[in-house]
Amino acid sequence: MTSSSHGGALRLVDILFPHDTVYETLTSLWAPSLGAYTAPIGLRRRGRRLSILIYPGTRRLRTVAEEAVEACISLISTPEPLLARLLGRQLHHYKPEIVHPPCPAPATALVEATVSSRARRGDMLELTLEPLAARTLAPAGYTRVHGAAVELAVAYTRVLHWAAERRCKEAVTNLEDMERAYKIIERLDWGGTVKKLSRALIEQALRVLALAACPTEAHG
Ligand SMILES: Cc1cc2nc3c(=O)[nH]c(=O)nc-3n(C[C@H](O)[C@H](O)[C@H](O)COP(=O)(O)O)c2cc1C
Repeated sequence: MTSSSHGGALRLVDILFPHDTVYETLTSLWAPSLGAYTAPIGLRRRGRRLSILIYPGTRRLRTVAEEAVEACISLISTPEPLLARLLGRQLHHYKPEIVHPPCPAPATALVEATVSSRARRGDMLELTLEPLAARTLAPAGYTRVHGAAVELAVAYTRVLHWAAERRCKEAVTNLEDMERAYKIIERLDWGGTVKKLSRALIEQALRVLALAACPTEAHG
């Protein structure tokens, strides 16, 4: 289903984001002078618009968000691109129809949007997005591997955050969350690709913790 008209895009956004909650996406933000930057970002509906919050401690993401004028939001169909992005690997993309930033792939749906406003919320930055076009691609079934990999990825970004703050207790608690999520992935990802990427992310978290001099003897 493709909706290049504004009204059509809004109807599809209604279908894609039916509840008042946070939808986990891989989003490319684009600023004319900085180019595109892709990151895992949570998104909420705000009536006919969408809203994203940029947390304190994010570096390049915050810099680009401060000047971003366009976005392509991907509802990814498998967790591989999410994990690959956090491991600093190259992603595949779809060509956007209207905006500049490439849309992370593979996805079940894409929403192209402009940034209609920017507001400071304490030490967070809120961007409001106006959907311009939306399209659905190949649907994908829900798997616990996907859910667990999203939890593992969130816990990983929290390990980075707390390690940078030298808060070892909080950082190690999040490493433990990663390990719990990994147990589910290990049991259910019979293909093994998500398992491999998740293991690599745990190893990266252990390296970050070692550099921050956080004790991790019981882990790994
Ligand atoms: C599933 C998921 C959702 C996330 N949602 C957000 C979000 O809504 N806002 C945000 O600032 N960071 C979010 N993050 C963390 C950022 O993606 C992460 O800190 C960013 O990639 C780091 O970018 P940096 O290297 O520019 O600091 C999320 C991470 C994951 C794994």
